[in-house]
Amino acid sequence: MKTDHPLFKTRVRVPATSANLGPGFDVLGIALGLFDEVELALWKAGHRPGLSITVDGAKDIPTDANNLAYRALVRIFKAARKPLPAVELRIKVRLPVAGGLGSSSAAIVGGLVAGNAALKNRFSMQELVQMATDLEGHPDNVLPALVGGLCAGVVTKAGVKFVAWKDSTFSRNVRAVVCTPDFKVPTEKARRVLPARVDRKDAIFNAAHVALFLSAIKEKRYDLLGEAMGDRLHQPYRAKLVPGLMDVIAAARRAGAYGAALSGAGPTVLAFVSHEKAANAARAMERAFRRFRFNTQFQILRIESRGAKPF
Ligand code: HSE
Repeated sequence: MKTDHPLFKTRVRVPATSANLGPGFDVLGIALGLFDEVELALWKAGHRPGLSITVDGAKDIPTDANNLAYRALVRIFKAARKPLPAVELRIKVRLPVAGGLGSSSAAIVGGLVAGNAALKNRFSMQELVQMATDLEGHPDNVLPALVGGLCAGVVTKAGVKFVAWKDSTFSRNVRAVVCTPDFKVPTEKARRVLPARVDRKDAIFNAAHVALFLSAIKEKRYDLLGEAMGDRLHQPYRAKLVPGLMDVIAAARRAGAYGAALSGAGPTVLAFVSHEKAANAARAMERAFRRFRFNTQFQILRIESRGAKPF
C-alpha cells in the first residue's frame, strides 16, 4: 500500500575524487567539480517495495541490496541502532564507473551523508570518515568526497587521521584535466598487479615525492609538480593495465601541464594544468591515447573545496 508522503527525503551531491596523485598511494586524494547525486526517500515500514533503487546514467550498477549507497545506508542505521524503514534510492551517475574518479566512494559517501541527514546528523565527520574508510578499504577517495579539497589520510589503530586542505590559490589557478579512455579497470584488479613487498629505494622515492608534492603546492611552486608526481609504488605495475599511460602523462606535460598521473586505479589520467593551457593539454592526452587505439572523453574540472552535501 502506497502512502502519499515519505517519512524523510533528501538529495546529496557528491564530488568526484582523484586518488594517489602520483606518489600518495592510498594516502592523497582531491575533490573535483563533477558530481553524482543520491536521492533518498524513506517510507514507513511495510511500504512495498521495501527497497527500490533506480540508477540513471550508468549500466552495471546493482539495484539490489548489493548497491553500495544502500550498503552504506544499512551501515549507518546499524551504527545508530535504528531500524531502516522502506528505502527508495535514485542515483544519478556522472562519474565513470570503474574509471578512476571515485565512483564507488561517491556511492558510499552519498549513502552515508543521506543516511546521516535522516538520522538528524547524529554522526560527526570523523565518524563518517571512519565508516566510509571501513567500507571502501582505504581513505584516499572517501576523504575528499566527504570533506572536499586536497586530503591526506592515514589509517591508524586509533582510527583515520586526516587533514583537508583548501588552497584557494591552487584552486583558482589550476584545473584538473581528466582524460578517460573507453575501458574499465576494476580497482581489485588494479590492486592485484601490485607487489606485496617493495624495495626500500622505491619506498623512499615515494615518501620524498609526497613531501615535494605538498610543499610545492604550499609554496606555489607548480613548476615542481611534474617531478613531484613521480611514483614507483603503483604506476609502473599498472601501466600494463592502461596501455599508453606513460605516453599520455608525457604528452600532457609536453602540452604544458604542471604534472600528471594515473587517477586512482585508472584508467583515467589526471593532469594539473593552468586554466589557459587546459584545453591544449586535454587534446594532447586524447591524441596520445588514440595512438593506442582508445577513444577518450576528457573534462576540464575545477578543484572542489566542498565535500558531499544535501542540496
Ligand atoms: N588508492 C587506491 C588505489 C584508489 O590506487 O588502488 C582506488 O580505489
